[in-house]
Amino acid sequence: MKLKWLGHSAFELISKNGLNILIDPFIQANPACPLKICDMHPDVICITHGHADHFGDTIEIARNNPNAIVIANYEISIYLQRKGINAIGLNYGAYVKIEDVEIRMLEAKHSSTFDFEIDTKYAGNPGSFLITFDNDIKVFHAGDTGLFSDMKFVIGEVYRPDIAILPIGNIFTMDLKEASIAASWINPKIVIPMHYNSFPSIAQNPEEFKKLVTNCQTLIPNVLETCEF
Ligand code: NI
Ligand code: MN
Repeated sequence: MKLKWLGHSAFELISKNGLNILIDPFIQANPACPLKICDMHPDVICITHGHADHFGDTIEIARNNPNAIVIANYEISIYLQRKGINAIGLNYGAYVKIEDVEIRMLEAKHSSTFDFEIDTKYAGNPGSFLITFDNDIKVFHAGDTGLFSDMKFVIGEVYRPDIAILPIGNIFTMDLKEASIAASWINPKIVIPMHYNSFPSIAQNPEEFKKLVTNCQTLIPNVLETCEF
């Protein structure tokens, strides 16, 4: 599979069969993302929670790509279906299989609202995704989260991801130190930091994170760099 960081928490993952999965498509207003909405051609869009820096340009991208399926929590899926968008609602532990990829929603400790709406509507529980490619490589995208013990007992010991993508920015999520503890509990082969340096409030040095991670390899991709696994 191929992985490309689009800045902040946005990632594009492409399966061996070419299935294009876009996670947290914060494109237009993302200061770290040089792409435009019209550059995005996903088959699947995964949304971890309702906040604007994750829900992002989902509606416009889904309308530009009418065959795309959005996978989100139940509440976000209802919101999208009412706008005529093809959406599947999952809850913790549940999964869907699309072609050669299995997408499972797991827990995150955070909040979830449509903060871009004037009355800040409730947007279900925040989540994370475990994406299994071709019954082989498992990629865990943590969404926005604090540290929690089921990173060890559920995500690490039951689901055993090969690659874990973790937020390190502080303020809205874990910081470097907590994310390094998360890396030791999840114990993947590779950890990738996200949700940092896109805004001044979440400025972090990913090399400092790398120094704190001792149990696995830390990969710090550049934005738009293609990483192949
Ligand atoms: Ni958030
Ligand atoms: Mn966020």
